[in-house]
Amino acid sequence: MAFIGHQLCRAFSSSTLRSAAIKHVVIVGGGQMGAGIAQVAASTGHQVTLVDTSEAILAKGVKGIETSLKRVVKKKFADKPEAGEAFIAKVLGCVSTATDVTAVVESADLVLEAIVENLKIKQDLFSGIDKVAPEHTIFASNTSSLPIGDIASVTSRLDRFGGLHFFNPVPMMKLVEVIGTSSTSQDTFDSLVNFSKALGKTTVSCKDTPGFIVNRLLVPYMLEAVRLHERGHGSKEDIDVAMKLGAGYPMGPFELLDYVGLDTAKFILDGWSAMDADNPLFAQSPLLNKLVAEGKYGKKTGEGFYKYK
Ligand code: 3HC
Repeated sequence: MAFIGHQLCRAFSSSTLRSAAIKHVVIVGGGQMGAGIAQVAASTGHQVTLVDTSEAILAKGVKGIETSLKRVVKKKFADKPEAGEAFIAKVLGCVSTATDVTAVVESADLVLEAIVENLKIKQDLFSGIDKVAPEHTIFASNTSSLPIGDIASVTSRLDRFGGLHFFNPVPMMKLVEVIGTSSTSQDTFDSLVNFSKALGKTTVSCKDTPGFIVNRLLVPYMLEAVRLHERGHGSKEDIDVAMKLGAGYPMGPFELLDYVGLDTAKFILDGWSAMDADNPLFAQSPLLNKLVAEGKYGKKTGEGFYKYK
């Protein structure tokens, strides 16, 4: 386990907004989402332990945090580069890493997972942590499509389990969807809302329904753009320009699909069509399936609907 310096973190946190209840956050999953959440949590003075299966993944995650912090600092400390450097050092001082989650949950107020979208893997993770985490520790999932209640079902803390759904890129996107299941206690829900607010995010309350609010609207919209293109009714470039300039979206649907990951979009769609096969909004897209089968997942693999350097 690499400790970078939680003492620094406490000194730093005294002047920043922080949830009274949640101080130490264990984030499982050092990919784009997990690292992004770790960044905003550490930037707001929380003590963060980032967990993944290998030191190499963790090193990549921390490197990503550093790169993103440099972008933030460039604006925030435009005239004070030294203060910017100090800010980056302080934030990184709030982040430690580990490969064994059970060894670091002892003082965790919140364990939040952002790992692969696989119900069994998520259940195994939480079932293991449930046996060793303190009584008060809240568990949360950043799943984009799986029912929170199904993930929680293997634990003994249904009342202390909820969903916290962040958006990519986490440092820039201002929203967090807070999801309560029928068993989530009001105290837990309030703690999750307060924690998200302490991260500087705006929250919306969601039921534990497929896609919550944003993905339930966004994924069918993006897929309808693909179908429109498949019908030959518009080039992907024109559809992207149309939605950016005609609807004011920051990215067109093809750009956004590449950004989110075509594998992620397909996983979400497949899950929904398994639940409601007759819903035309969840219909399969041959083009999306072909790209995913070819390993063209978007920006992260260098090619999706577009090619990336
Ligand atoms: N870290 C820090 N800063 C970042 C950043 C990051 N990861 N990404 C972008 N930025 C900053 C840049 O530094 C830049 O700052 P500046 O304006 O002061 O120079 C600013 O954001 C704009 O970035 P760019 O100029 O590179 O590009 P854009 O203007 O296109 O903005 C964007 C990038 C913020 C990603 C914008 O295109 C956007 O909002 N896109 C839509 C993203 C979206 O919809 N996300 C949700 C996806 S759905 C999801 O995540 C749910 C999941 O379950 C599937």
